[in-house]
Amino acid sequence: MNKTIVGLFLVLLLSACGGGADEEMPAVDQEEALRAARADSVAQAAEMYDAAVFDTLTWENDNARWERGGVVWSFTCQRCHGADGTGQGPDAVTFNIEVPDMTAADWRYADDIPATREFIFVGHDSEMPSLGLIGLPYSDVDASTHYIHDLLRSGE
Ligand code: HEC
Repeated sequence: MNKTIVGLFLVLLLSACGGGADEEMPAVDQEEALRAARADSVAQAAEMYDAAVFDTLTWENDNARWERGGVVWSFTCQRCHGADGTGQGPDAVTFNIEVPDMTAADWRYADDIPATREFIFVGHDSEMPSLGLIGLPYSDVDASTHYIHDLLRSGE
């Protein structure tokens, strides 16, 4: 191969690999893509969800479940939902995420433990992660559900 052909080959190779490297996706497309990805996660989590697993869980006592719920809450939920569950966690504030106040008297899951568990596992295509899909165990879903209902909502 002579030098010209090698040079031409390199130019072609570079343009094939590097094309579009500094083009950015327009913001709207990015937002749409993100939403579609989240909707896909929600669908996968809904498919996986099995409410019957909760019947097989055993806790030593209520305290053990609340204690675990508190740990899960502070590591996984608090950044959005806030330590007190009112929806003013640091990430909610910084990224302007609308997070519902779970302590409100008319909260939509006020008397619904099964729906709360399912929502935590499955997530939502807004900003609530599909926590079951990314590995939050059923026992942690249960513990955080009771932490919300038994402690946060009673103001303890
Ligand atoms: C990245 C932020 C974020 C994290 C982390 C997060 N959530 Fe959420 N969560 C949200 C948002 C936003 C909503 C509202 C979803 C909607 O639009 O309906 C929500 C809704 C909920 C709801 C439904 C109640 C309602 O009023 O809509 C429950 C229950 C819930 N989250 C529990 C949890 C638990 C438990 C954890 C941790 C194990 C957690 N969330 C972690 C952002 C988050």
